[in-house]
Amino acid sequence: MRAVVVREHGPVAAQALETLPDPVPGPGQVVIDARAIGVNYPDLLVIEGRYQLLPPRPFTPGKEVAGVVSAVGEGVARIKAGDRVMAQREYGAYCEKVLAPEATCYRMPDALGFEEGAALGLAYQTSHFALVERGGYKKGETVLVTGASGGVGLAGVEIAKALGATVIAGVTSREKGELCRRHGADHVIDLAAPDLRNSLREQVYAAVGRRGVDIVLENVGGEVFDGALRALAWCGRLVVVGFASMRLPEAKANYLLVKNIAAVGLQWSDYRERDPVWVQRVQAELYALWGAGKLRPHVSERYPLERFADALARFTERGVLGKIVLLP
Ligand SMILES: NC(=O)c1ccc[n+]([C@@H]2O[C@H](COP(=O)([O-])OP(=O)(O)OC[C@H]3O[C@@H](n4cnc5c(N)ncnc54)[C@H](OP(=O)(O)O)[C@@H]3O)[C@@H](O)[C@H]2O)c1
Repeated sequence: MRAVVVREHGPVAAQALETLPDPVPGPGQVVIDARAIGVNYPDLLVIEGRYQLLPPRPFTPGKEVAGVVSAVGEGVARIKAGDRVMAQREYGAYCEKVLAPEATCYRMPDALGFEEGAALGLAYQTSHFALVERGGYKKGETVLVTGASGGVGLAGVEIAKALGATVIAGVTSREKGELCRRHGADHVIDLAAPDLRNSLREQVYAAVGRRGVDIVLENVGGEVFDGALRALAWCGRLVVVGFASMRLPEAKANYLLVKNIAAVGLQWSDYRERDPVWVQRVQAELYALWGAGKLRPHVSERYPLERFADALARFTERGVLGKIVLLP
């Protein structure tokens, strides 16, 4: 089979597609014939060696795939050959035949296509755990999503709206704002505005009043984080999800105290490893929301597997709208 192989960390353009032996499933594992592979911002960081969790080299990057199960290992009971599944991995998805533990495979609804199925994975799981588990969301609260036009962000907009929130999307262009409105945002604010430390809060106040927001799903970092923390309502919660701006922010502890607010972090892969049954339950809820027409993963671009470098370049170009998938 063909697979992207990283032998040395470095620029994406320096990585190559290689021919490897087809994988054979071990106990508790399945092999999935890939039909669509989700492309995520962290894939870029992993390839370049800038991510918090780095696999031993050589490795195949890629965290999610949708496809058809072609082989199952000993002891696999829930999934069988021929099943249409989406699977989550720490790495190993940028290839034609993906090896995955049964515990992190999710049988897809019959009517869900492979491209949408691959998109309805890491980004949605991340935003669901950020909002519900780490953010302690209560129905009717006001939620600000930063980096809202990206994969995790747009999923956050849709999930918050589906669960009854008033949603503010933070974006950097009119086009990206329109996309968020089509996916459920009630209000849009401009994260390209000057002096975000102050102007972000003023925009939030103009949208929903001077109380501020109950929850921030914060995907960007830097000045966006600074401004978003100041936009929180009494007893508000900011969930640190990512640092797409590549600037790590800092919060002063006295500020949390004075405003009765909380800043908490989310590392979704810990849930995947520590409590796969919980993650399965959340995935079933996401599929139910999709079945009810409340989630509509936005796949904006498709690339053949061999053009993985062009797909990943879209993140550095800041051109991503929703999700990109690779088609093997
Ligand atoms: N915590 C977890 O478990 C977990 C899981 C998955 C991903 N993540 C993290 O979540 C973040 C988003 O991932 P993704 O796959 O959704 O990436 P993505 O599709 O590239 O989305 C990133 C978003 O951030 C925005 N952004 C980037 N730089 C910005 C800046 N300087 N100012 C304002 N907005 C900016 C982008 O807007 P523009 O397009 O306008 O630039 C885009 O909307 C990443 O940091 C990723 O590592 C965390």
